[in-house]
Amino acid sequence: MSELLRVENLKKYFKTPSGFLHAVDDLSFSINRGETLGVVGESGCGKSTLGRCIVHLLEPTAGKIFFEGADITYLSGEKLKESRKDLQMIFQDPFSSLNPRMTVKSIIMEPMLIHNMHGGDKAKQEQEVLRLMETVGLAERLADSYPHELDGGRRQRIGIARALALEPKLIVCDEPVSALDVSIQAQILNLMQDLQEERGLTYMFITHDLSVVKHISDNICVMYLGVLVEQSSSEKLFEKQYHPYTQALLSAIPVPKLNAKRERILLKGEITSPINPAPGCRFAPRCLYAKQECFQVQPELKELEPDHYVACHLY
Ligand SMILES: Nc1ncnc2c1ncn2[C@@H]1O[C@H](COP(=O)(O)OP(=O)(O)OP(=O)(O)O)[C@@H](O)[C@H]1O
Ligand SMILES: [Mg+2]
Repeated sequence: MSELLRVENLKKYFKTPSGFLHAVDDLSFSINRGETLGVVGESGCGKSTLGRCIVHLLEPTAGKIFFEGADITYLSGEKLKESRKDLQMIFQDPFSSLNPRMTVKSIIMEPMLIHNMHGGDKAKQEQEVLRLMETVGLAERLADSYPHELDGGRRQRIGIARALALEPKLIVCDEPVSALDVSIQAQILNLMQDLQEERGLTYMFITHDLSVVKHISDNICVMYLGVLVEQSSSEKLFEKQYHPYTQALLSAIPVPKLNAKRERILLKGEITSPINPAPGCRFAPRCLYAKQECFQVQPELKELEPDHYVACHLY
């Protein structure tokens, strides 16, 4: 498997009146071509910030981003524009990310116009829009509709078609199904998996819900307040969770079998502030097993089993 994206020691701090907010703090990982990396963690842990840094909607504070072996951490001008073709993003709320005054057709066509796709040939671009609509399951008759006339599932299909318009290699999917009904969620996830197979796409799939990424991720990164706490293949992670935070996340997933039991771990204690965070493990104040060391030294990511990494003083 060849590596498509590599992130090394990435940091994104926001300056706030009370100090630096460590939204993403020293993350490293890579994604292979054609695979899906699930990024999981609760609200505010820095998932969107990470995704936005990768697609260059935000500039990282420190660290490096490599794409196909080339350093793309800081890009501007033509190079930045070129990178948009390779790296696209799908957003959680298709309604606020789509221009309400544009028709479905023009929303999908817009990136093609900006990037002069298909030799700038208008007829070819229009043909391509219709082909993309068919690909994502949007009926041709909807081409002249506006986003508000469609339901959430269809709106997200527009977002996917628009992201595909530039034939990207990597798509950062930021909670793409979180705003949708459960039945529609499954349809969109299936569509995304089919597209991945057909087009050899690589996904970074961001979600707060571990159960959503179970079936679609090859690997999973669990984040807590800007830090990577556990990382492994999806298979291994669902078999064994080492980090108490991952254990709590998993315990929140309902068990489908009748009479099956899983004790839900309820997290107590206060969430550490991401502004000038205290030394030690960021999860320590809510951890059931925290010892003195946990409040003093930040644990490093250690390989506990082949390709299963955990940042925790318990091990
Ligand atoms: N532009 C900004 N300026 C200051 N702080 C920011 C900015 N954007 C994000 N943050 C802060 O950075 C932290 C991480 O935010 P981010 O949106 O990346 O989290 P998230 O994991 O995507 O959360 P959610 O699940 O709610 O989408 C939060 O504490 C947030 O308040
Ligand atoms: Mg977010």
